[in-house]
Parts: sequence; C-alpha cells; structure tokens
Amino acid sequence: MHEVKRIRLPDLQAKKQRGEKIAMLTAYDYTMARLLDRARIDILLVGDSLGMVVLGYETTLPVTLDAIVHHTRAVSRGAHRALVVADMPFLTYQVSLPETVRNAGRLLQEGGAAAVKIEGGGAMAEVAAKLVEVGIPVMGHLGLLPQSVHQLGGFRQQATAEKDAGQLRADALALQEAGAFAVVLESIPAEVARAVTAELRIPTIGIGAGPYCDGQVLVSFDMLGLSQDSVPPFVRRYADLGEEIVAAATAYADDVRAGHFPAPNRRAAEPLLVEAK
Ligand code: KIV
Repeated sequence: MHEVKRIRLPDLQAKKQRGEKIAMLTAYDYTMARLLDRARIDILLVGDSLGMVVLGYETTLPVTLDAIVHHTRAVSRGAHRALVVADMPFLTYQVSLPETVRNAGRLLQEGGAAAVKIEGGGAMAEVAAKLVEVGIPVMGHLGLLPQSVHQLGGFRQQATAEKDAGQLRADALALQEAGAFAVVLESIPAEVARAVTAELRIPTIGIGAGPYCDGQVLVSFDMLGLSQDSVPPFVRRYADLGEEIVAAATAYADDVRAGHFPAPNRRAAEPLLVEAK
C-alpha cells in the first residue's frame, strides 16, 4: 500500500492562505472513516451529533466522554489521511481546567484524535489556551451551539442582530488569540461568516453559514441521506443511502423467504473471505 500524507494543522493554515477550501465531515465508525478518507475529506469530526444520528437522542447533551473516546478510536483506525478531531461532550470542559485537560487528553491518548473541538466563545478562551499550552490542538465552535440548545430556545439561526454579530466576531478573535487552530461557524448569516472569515488568520469552517468560510462541514448521515428524521434546510443530499439500504434489505429478506439465498451449490474449495476494495 502506498504512503498517504497525513493532513496536519499547518496544511489547514496553508489552505486558507492559498484560498483552497477545506472539506470536513462527521464520522463515527471505522468503516465510514475509511470510506470518507478514500474520498479525501480533510477533517473527520467525531461529533457529539453521534448522540442524535447514531444513538437516537433528541439532543447532543446525553453524549458521554466514554462514548466519544470509543467512537474516536474506531474513526482513528480508519483514517490514514484525514485529521481526526473529537468533540468534547457537554460538561467535560466547563467544570475545571485540570478536569478539562484530563478529558481532552483521553481523546488524544486513548482515542487517537489529533485535536478536540469545544463550543463557546470568549468564556472558553481560557480553556482553549490551557489545552493549547499542554499541546492539545483546539477547534472552536461559534454561532448555534447544540450543547446550549435549551438556553438558545431551540436549533435556530444565531447572530442575526448586529450586536450579536459583533459579539460573535469578538468571540472568534478571542479563540484565535487563545491559540485555536480553526473555528466552526454554525447557522449564522453568510455575511457575518464572510466578515469573520476575512478578519481571522485561522480557517473558519461553516455549517449553515453560507459559502464564504474557508471550509465546510456537514453531518455525514445528513448529506448521505441516512438520517431518517428531518434535516436542517442548509443540508445538500449527495446520496439517498437510507432508501438504498431499505431496498437492499428488502431484497435480501425476500430472497431468504423465497429460498433464493444462499445459492445451493457453494463449492467447498471457495475462499471464505474475499478481498474488499
Ligand atoms: O457534532 C457535530 O456534528 C458538530 C458539527 C455540526 C460541526 O459539531
């Protein structure tokens, strides 16, 4: 197998400087990580969205550190090129700095992630600075903060008023000064994202934040058509894998019930495992 060059933090910075867009998707398991890595996705995020799309919760709040460590380990085993970023779940980085460092450390040490993501602005600058100080790269997350869904009154667009846009800009600068290497901008007006992107030295990664960010991220299950519940309006569906799975499973069940699977005459000499692509 030929060597692939791993994406590292300086590569993301260089992409921003060259005006090259960064492609990021969420991943939660080994098989999906391998597929998305083959597709040359630059960053794989083990998002706490796994609570909603994999575990069936209504919000990301019940996701635990152990769950993210477990899924990050699987994603890290499948990703040879992409930078793996792990989300820090609710209450794993808000209680104290020593606890935060230990929790983030687990995501790198046990999970194999290269960086962590935290939600929040200026109030999280001290946390980001501490993590960076001990060698843990931090991605920020501003705008719609899913872990604050109750305080925000639902999953709704943020920074629509001028004063909130100003606050978001100040938060982004605070994260940059704290040493964050990138910041996700979720569900904010495109013009606000454009202004923040122009002002920051570090890359911005948008989700529902228009086309002017340095990169884009989507929940992979949403863009692949695997999410069965409603998806945010900004999602573009690149495939309808949910329907393909239902059709394939239905065809299999029909074959089993009709006695058409398995075929009657498998030869004893056939290999038990065939090489996958
Ligand atoms: O958890 C997640 O999937 C995320 C993305 C929406 C950025 O934080």
